[in-house]
Amino acid sequence: MKKIVALLGILTLTVSCKTAGTVSSNDSLKNTFKNKFYIGTAMSLPQIYGTDVKSVEIIKKQFSSIVAENCMKSMFLQPEEGKFFFDDADKFVAFGEKNKMFIIGHTLIWHSQLPKWFFVDKEGKDVSAEVLKQRMKNHITTVVSRYKGRVKGYDVVNEAIMEDGSYRKSKFYEILGEEFIPLAFQYAQEADPNAELYYNDYNEWFPEKVKTVTKIVKNLKSRGIRIDGVGMQTHVGLDTPKLTEYEKAIVNYAAAGVKVNVTEMEISALPSPWGTSANVSDKVEYEAKMNPYTAGLPENVKTEWENRYLDFFRLFLKHQDKIRRVTLWGTTDAQSWKNDFPVKGRTDYPLLFDRNDQTKPVVGKIIQLTKEK
Ligand code: GLA
Repeated sequence: MKKIVALLGILTLTVSCKTAGTVSSNDSLKNTFKNKFYIGTAMSLPQIYGTDVKSVEIIKKQFSSIVAENCMKSMFLQPEEGKFFFDDADKFVAFGEKNKMFIIGHTLIWHSQLPKWFFVDKEGKDVSAEVLKQRMKNHITTVVSRYKGRVKGYDVVNEAIMEDGSYRKSKFYEILGEEFIPLAFQYAQEADPNAELYYNDYNEWFPEKVKTVTKIVKNLKSRGIRIDGVGMQTHVGLDTPKLTEYEKAIVNYAAAGVKVNVTEMEISALPSPWGTSANVSDKVEYEAKMNPYTAGLPENVKTEWENRYLDFFRLFLKHQDKIRRVTLWGTTDAQSWKNDFPVKGRTDYPLLFDRNDQTKPVVGKIIQLTKEK
């Protein structure tokens, strides 16, 4: 009898917890956001090749979309003109298909992590506009055709606009002018008419940058060139950007007729070297101030960091009709590039899973947010 009473007690507790919206260990980000937006992560090579076993388990359980952290950048895909290397990307795409994920190709045209030959002829001189167009077309067509129907969306152009709204003076711009952007989208559209095509950039909430990116979107649309989304890279810190600025940008891009992809998201818990009072000439003092939490985050910083994630996710939920995807830039803290940027060799805590592949409490709290009315 005692046993039955105890059992009933447990059952009642479970039921009442459920109605209160408690997060169970079976809940995952992927299931939680299923009818809202894709929730993604960037994959490193050890994850793509399955050697980082534990984090791969997390990826399968938690995420519905993936992007390659590096292996689909042009310097890796086409290190020499006409010589493509697809082993890593093939493996990445196969992983996504096997696990029924929304696969993102990142990135076709970007001035960085690009092979040296791309802009120059045999003498090392800049190539003509015609040659550069041909190279862009060949790169885009080869990559996009190979994964036609399998990679569902591409960051076609990455980081072409500056915070003041001007065009970055990259070689693409110097040789082809503003037209390199429509051309890239056109080539991608021709290679796979069904793939979603995006423009992706950082600090895309700066008002002048919002204006130029919106103009690009409208220009492409008016010319019948496909553009489905703006990717807002979200490499953010505890203090910047202000959520109000970020929200304005979401609303703006949506009003221009495209979806917003929250891309490359992570929240650094460390002080920014740009806003520090540390004395740079005193190396020891500087390093201690810049890398203050090597043994773990103090409770107050942890709370601040969690609240910041929750604020962002509240915003994403509020604008879920405008958002196609939220992608984290990695899975565990151990993997994050933030440990080495913008200061080398720090211990940062920017992602949702910790260095020991454990789920951080913030994940449950994010899931809980979706259950609140
Ligand atoms: C940019 C790129 C990403 C990545 C990050 C740094 O945001 O779009 O692919 O290289 O920088 O990791």
